[in-house]
Amino acid sequence: MAYDIAVVPGDGIGTEVVDHSMPVVEEAADTHDVSIDITRYDWGSERYLAEGAMMPEDGLDRLRDHDAIFLGAVGHPDVPDHVTLHGLRLEITKGFKQHVCKRPSYLFEGITSPLRNYAGGDIDFVVYRQNTEGEYADLGGREYEGFDNEVAVQSALFTREGTETIVRAAFEAATERAGKLTNITKSNAQAHGMVFWDDIVEEVHGDYPDVEVERLLVDAASMDFVRRPEEFDVVVASNLFGDILTDLGAGISGSMGLAPSSNIDPTRTHPSMFEPVHGSAFDITGEGIANPIGTVLSWELLWDHLGEGAVARGLHNAVAEQLADSGAPRTPDIGGESGTEAVANDLRTRVE
Ligand code: NAI
Ligand code: MG
Repeated sequence: MAYDIAVVPGDGIGTEVVDHSMPVVEEAADTHDVSIDITRYDWGSERYLAEGAMMPEDGLDRLRDHDAIFLGAVGHPDVPDHVTLHGLRLEITKGFKQHVCKRPSYLFEGITSPLRNYAGGDIDFVVYRQNTEGEYADLGGREYEGFDNEVAVQSALFTREGTETIVRAAFEAATERAGKLTNITKSNAQAHGMVFWDDIVEEVHGDYPDVEVERLLVDAASMDFVRRPEEFDVVVASNLFGDILTDLGAGISGSMGLAPSSNIDPTRTHPSMFEPVHGSAFDITGEGIANPIGTVLSWELLWDHLGEGAVARGLHNAVAEQLADSGAPRTPDIGGESGTEAVANDLRTRVE
């Protein structure tokens, strides 16, 4: 099979991890007779600084016919974060109805968790994060700027389509995994949006009676991600709560640099987008030490989504084998002294 993939490396370490991962991805695809046709789009903050927009006006149209999109990261020290995020990533996730953000947290053998007494495989859950609305809806405004009665309003938006889509995807995943779903809520304090959210979880549960549902307030959940992460399997959360909890998931699984992510339109009307969880990491940009594994594992999610399970497994097994090998190169975030390129070169030799 041949696939037509759009690659948007973006900013900072986004370009570093995307470029160095490409040979690993090509190797895995070649091995399984899958061919990839890459179109690279150099959109991001440099473009914003030169031309005033993160991507061209017809950006979504140019992406629309690709089989999938791969994004590195966005974020630049000279551009406000809300501009970079809303100008590219959120434009794509919202425009293409990528309601579902799926983020696995897995503690690999060979990785030391900051939590005591957790070994390889002990942490293994997946967070389904609502990806197009909720607290990240661009709804609100500022008034009386600069005066002492200045106000800001920021509203959260919960639609039936956006909520039901993420909840249903999470229930589907739960039936394929251990049959357990944790619903993250804050309906004690947010009596409109989050009560609606809980109602939809109840309603969709009716279609999946065999799934056991646990309901957890987000503050308690953040404690329990640290205290008893082994008990989570599938977790469903709103945009903001999912964002925060998945950084925590990455942290307890060893590093932000290992965490993969996907932005999925379950109807497959639009292309889905895959990216590492991390951002552009100003603090290590240009040093050549960014961990490429979160990117490689995001390519795994891409191939799974496109139905190329063998390519996906090839990438996954190469990562698992490398991390379990104490003699293999690793980047400083997971205790090594090697760079992005050395890790990627080594991964390439392990791909089957
Ligand atoms: P970040 O994820 O870029 O970095 C957080 C910390 O993790 C830093 O100490 C960084 O060095 C480390 N880190 C991240 N990825 C790593 C990797 N692959 N290997 C080794 N260490 C890694 O988050 P931060 O610093 O809060 O944000 C920097 C910029 O990125 C901001 O402009 C922010 O808005 C943007 N951002 C973009 C995202 C995206 O494109 N999806 C997601 C998160 C942040
Ligand atoms: Mg985040």
